[in-house]
Parts: sequence; C-alpha cells; structure tokens
Amino acid sequence: MPANTPTPNLATLARTAIEASERAYAPYSKFKVGAALLAEDGRVFTGCNVENASYGLTNCAERTAVFKAVSEGATHFAAIAIAGGVGDVAMPCGACRQVLAEFCPPDAPVRCVSLDGSIVKDFTVGELLPGVFSL
Ligand code: THU
Repeated sequence: MPANTPTPNLATLARTAIEASERAYAPYSKFKVGAALLAEDGRVFTGCNVENASYGLTNCAERTAVFKAVSEGATHFAAIAIAGGVGDVAMPCGACRQVLAEFCPPDAPVRCVSLDGSIVKDFTVGELLPGVFSL
C-alpha cells in the first residue's frame, strides 16, 4: 500500500453509503443497498443496487461502486462501507466479495451498517473471502 494511502474514516464512509442507498433502484425487491468505496488516491466512489425487470441483470451496490471507480481510473481501494438492511446489516454477496478481493488488499476494512446506521459490523476483505480465486 503506498505511504500516502488515506486513513479510512469508516464512520464518514458509512454515512456516505447510507446516502447512496437512497438512490437505489430497487422496485422489485424493495431492498435498498448503498456503498462507499475509498480509493487509495483519496477519492470516494458511491454505488447503489440497480435492479432490472430481467432480475438476473441486477447489479449490486458494491459492484456499482467498484465499476464506477475502475472506469474513472481508480483500481486500488483502502476501504468500503456498505449500507443495507433493517434490524441487521446486509452482508456483501459472494460475487461482490470476489470483485472486492480483486482490487482491495486482504486487510482492507469492510464496514457493514444497517440503513439507519444503528447497527455496525466490521470485517476485512480477507475475512469475507478466505481462499479467494486468483490468477
Ligand atoms: N444486493 C446488493 O446490492 N449487494 C449485495 O451484496 C447483496 C444484494 C442487492 C441486489 C438486489 O437489488 C437486492 O439487494 C436484493 O437481493
């Protein structure tokens, strides 16, 4: 990790993820998810889930954030916050864990918060996907 990598402020990142969840396009599941991804260059990229009438085309909030970031030239990330769930946090799905593992070091923090911010659970990318597939 470069020496100038920003120290993640996970509380701020979580608040940004909650704000991003308000932009979720989830007319089918009604399950809103937001993500805020801190790049090593200090930029924060947000994402929300984007559903489709053809259900399998749905894109999760985390992957929306990652794909936005990569398309803007950021490919190394220091932390992510994910906002979803009422009464508990939403955990990132398997596909999103694999995508995060592609671009984050194993010790990168993953903060999961409920939509109202009252429940917070902290993990690392490596904890969430032991035995990651890599080439
Ligand atoms: N969802 C995410 O945005 N991220 C995840 O990691 C798990 C699931 C979304 C996809 C879908 O729009 C809704 O949650 C219900 O599955």
